[in-house]
Amino acid sequence: MDLFEYQARDVFEAHGVPVLGGKTATTPAEAKAAAEEIGAKSGGVTVVKAQVKTGGRGKAGGVKVAKSAEEAEQLAGQILGMDIKGHTVNTVMIAQGAQIAEEYYFSILLDRTNRGVLAMCSKEGGVDIETLAVERPEALAKVPVDPNVGIDEAKAREIVEQAGFDAETGDKIVPVLQKLWDVYAGEDATLVEVNPLVKTEDGQIIALDGKVTLDGNADFRHPDHATLEDKSAADPLEAAAKEKDLNYVKLDGNVGIIGNGAGLVMSTLDVVAYAGEKVGSKPANFLDIGGGASAAVMANGLGIILGDEQVKSVFVNVFGGITACDEVAKGIVGALDTLGDAATKQLVVRLDGNAVEEGRRILAERNHPLVTIEDTMDGAAAKAAELAAK
Ligand SMILES: Nc1ncnc2c1ncn2[C@@H]1O[C@H](COP(=O)(O)OP(=O)(O)OP(=O)(O)O)[C@@H](O)[C@H]1O
Ligand SMILES: [Mg+2]
Repeated sequence: MDLFEYQARDVFEAHGVPVLGGKTATTPAEAKAAAEEIGAKSGGVTVVKAQVKTGGRGKAGGVKVAKSAEEAEQLAGQILGMDIKGHTVNTVMIAQGAQIAEEYYFSILLDRTNRGVLAMCSKEGGVDIETLAVERPEALAKVPVDPNVGIDEAKAREIVEQAGFDAETGDKIVPVLQKLWDVYAGEDATLVEVNPLVKTEDGQIIALDGKVTLDGNADFRHPDHATLEDKSAADPLEAAAKEKDLNYVKLDGNVGIIGNGAGLVMSTLDVVAYAGEKVGSKPANFLDIGGGASAAVMANGLGIILGDEQVKSVFVNVFGGITACDEVAKGIVGALDTLGDAATKQLVVRLDGNAVEEGRRILAERNHPLVTIEDTMDGAAAKAAELAAK
């Protein structure tokens, strides 16, 4: 999960990384009130910053300096509602204005290729770091970090030395890098990027911008991270699926898809897309119920898919390995019985593998008018595509 800048600011502050005051606003009036409060510490000067999860906000006109609370109000009026690379600005952060002497770059990221962590640092920050990395790679220090040791004082010194900082500035940056490591490790992040990390006119080092990506695999260790989620951006069906621990991705078609195993579901999407070309049908979603799914998981999955208004038919494609086909069949029957008259969409079911005879028997016995059993994957795909097109 990517964080908004204001959330990164809060996380930085909690770990002792030096940041400036900041407050969010969703209306110009709120922005004015925030600027009156925040600007008090910086001679009335604040910076109005678009909160969107994409880079290049400054270049797009989403970061503007305000010399008064009235100006902050006016700038917020311009920035709120703006579109930055397809992201609508719903929130701005009113940040305390800094007197910047120099802008640097620092990041810590998961380096999958080298199975470790990489720290990157440059004396030339603020700018487009990707361009710097290509045009003048020598200006960007890249220092591998042992995840078991982290960025201790020695490692932080190595980083600032490689980046070419003078001793005095380096001394000030070292503890900040250690704190940023605390953010990275303590929050289970895969990216912590500060661009710019600035030195102010009076010699302080401050993180003026922050990008943080948290590792969703570690969510169980951080119940507090749930509050950082951007509920407004989540698709309601995807949110409901997530609540039920289902691997679901909403797509734009009319054939609902359920299968067991990501590989099988991916190829099911392919065969449905192929079969659908002739009749104008397309897969409506990806849903993997995983290995060893119970009847309850199957019923939950079906519930999500049937809740998608775009879905006209559903293809259940299960190859029983660890998952037993009789459990799948019980899930289908259970879900349909629970829905009762609310179930109106045709289901095409292809079962094979573990306990297939029992599974087919359960479906045949129930003999539900909405369920069609097909023997092959291609046959079932064609049937589901055809039903959806009707
Ligand atoms: N609080 C502040 N006080 C003074 N100047 C600021 C402040 N925040 C940002 N700036 C200036 O604006 C520039 C751009 O800000 P920032 O890095 O937050 O946005 P950005 O880099 O355009 O966005 P992104 O990081 O999403 O690409 C900074 O390099 C800095 O010069
Ligand atoms: Mg930036």
